[in-house]
This record gives sequence, structure tokens and C-alpha cells, in this order.
Amino acid sequence: MSLRHFVDTQDFTKKELLDMIELTRRIKAADKQGCTPKLLQDASLAMIFEEPSTRTRVSFEVAMTELGGHALYLKPGEIHLGVRESMYDTAKVLSRMCDAVFCRALKHETVTELAKYAEVPVLNGLTDYNHPTQVVCDALTMIEHMPEGKKVEDLNVTFIGDATNVLSSLMLMCTKLGMNFTHAAPKKYQAPDEWVKWAKENCAVSGGTVTVTDDPIAAVKNADFIYTDLWWWVGQEDQIPERRAAFMPKYQVNKELFEKAPSHCKFMHCLPASRGVEATDDVMDHPRSVIFDQSENRLHTEKGLLAYFIYPRLKRPSEELKAYHKGQIEDFLNDPKLGK
Ligand code: CP
Repeated sequence: MSLRHFVDTQDFTKKELLDMIELTRRIKAADKQGCTPKLLQDASLAMIFEEPSTRTRVSFEVAMTELGGHALYLKPGEIHLGVRESMYDTAKVLSRMCDAVFCRALKHETVTELAKYAEVPVLNGLTDYNHPTQVVCDALTMIEHMPEGKKVEDLNVTFIGDATNVLSSLMLMCTKLGMNFTHAAPKKYQAPDEWVKWAKENCAVSGGTVTVTDDPIAAVKNADFIYTDLWWWVGQEDQIPERRAAFMPKYQVNKELFEKAPSHCKFMHCLPASRGVEATDDVMDHPRSVIFDQSENRLHTEKGLLAYFIYPRLKRPSEELKAYHKGQIEDFLNDPKLGK
């Protein structure tokens, strides 16, 4: 298989993204019956984290273990990258030792640079621009919770909140799959024109639609899914008063707003959440909230993505070849003259 990285869902066709989801569904079905196949026996994944993580770290690490492989958590300050070693050298070295490299980076360019030099698949675990592994999981969750009688292309997805990295990926993923996507936020915090242009290009191919509005009530009117994310992130602490004033209470996903949506509408959040800020407890814990199904699906999705990108590249030697090499090595180790 030729080398491909998972840096941006925009690098993939609708068919390829749906294949990733279908593979994930099959692996999840196997897992639910305790039958996860060891597809990545003895494979290694290097995981570089420049920022903290709960879901992404745990899901990738558990996914590698359950598929028969191994993950290495390389936390900030524990490797030479960016301090005593160039991106080029780090990418080359990790490619010689591991079967894939994962990276959660402060800057998107860190992941694109890594992918430029790596000789194994690079998976983007969130940057300041996007979060592609999250939105494959989100699409799977929507498919599992699809309203009766609808298909993927009929889904109406409304994101309420800041133009975060999750929004960029969600808008591009949903429009790539042909869904109708709406972003509701105060004008200052709406999706940049460039993202909307790319989403519209996706719609031209897929038949979906993209709408950006400052009216959250209109935005949820036909929503099958309402999705929100944090209103501020690490490094934006000085903006909290301004952001809180811009979003609260109009853009908070609370019971009053949730009840303006159709009675089948589901609530989604990538988590972590600031409960009582972007969404209230009565929505987070509502019977139609799917936030923990969504979290669990990170694990199944990482398995699907890891299998999709790594499995076709693994060597599968014959039993004869394995026996030949084992014999060669053991003959040497068992030689009475060894070390004498
Ligand atoms: N949704 C998500 O990426 O969560 P973590 O930051 O905990 O990995």
C-alpha cells in the first residue's frame, strides 16, 4: 500500500471516509462479542503529545493494545523534537522504529512537517486547525443514531459555538459526506470564509449544504444533531470575559434551546466540556444526549483508523520463512562455542 497520512479529512474522498467508518463498525461489532482480531500484532505506534488529552491518548493506546500492538506515549519535554533535534531527523528515526506516528500538536504545521518527512503513516491527533480523528468518530456516532427513515445525506447537523478546530473538521467532514451543516455563533466567532468556501466546494460534489448564522433558534429548527464545544481553550484565558459575554446566554445549549429542535434531535459534544457554560447539565445528561456513546466511539474509531492505515503495510511472512529465521537465530544462540 502506498504511504498515506491522516492529517485532514479533506485529503480523502467520501467513499474512503465511509470505508473507514464501515471498517470501524465491523471492528466494533467484533469487539462487542469479545472477538477483536489482532490485526496489528507486534506493531508500534509513536504518540507525540504537545498538549494534554484524556480521550485521544487513552483511545489510541487501548486501541493499539487490543489490536495486538503497542503504543508509546511521548509527552512534552520527553523527546528531543523541536529542542535538540530537527523535525526531519525525528520523523526519519521514528519511521525506522515504529509502524505509524501520531501527533497532537500546538501548531498544524508541526503535523504537516512530520508527514512530509515520515516514511510511515502520520495520524493527526488535534492541532490548532483541526481534529480529524474526532470527526470520523462523530460521523459514526451520527450514523448509529440516525433518525428512522433517514440516510447520511439527509442529516441536518448544527454546531453552536466558537470556530474551534473541532468545528473546522466537523464542517468539512459533514459536507464531504453530503449532510446539511449549520454553524451558529456571534459574527466575530463564526467559521472563517476559507472554511466555508471549502465546505461549499464539498457540497458542490456531495449535494449537502452549509449555512452560517448568528441565529441559534433558526439553526436548531430542523436539526437531527446539535453539537457544541468549549468556548475558550488553553491560552485564551484573557479572553474569557469577552467570550462569555458574546456567547452567554444566547448560544448556550440549554433545555430551552434544545426544546426548539425536533423531538428526535440528539445532543453531541466532543468533550472535555465546561458544564454549565456551553451546555447545561440537563442537556449533557438528557436521554437524547449521546456524548458518552460518542466518547466510547473514539476507541472503536482509532482501531478502525489504525487498521486502515497500518494493516495493509505490515509484512506477512510465510510460516516457512519465520521458521527459517528462528532456526538461524537459535542455532547461533545454542552454539556451545558462543562467547568462548
Ligand atoms: N475530544 C478530545 O480530543 O478529547 P481529549 O482532549 O481528552 O483527547
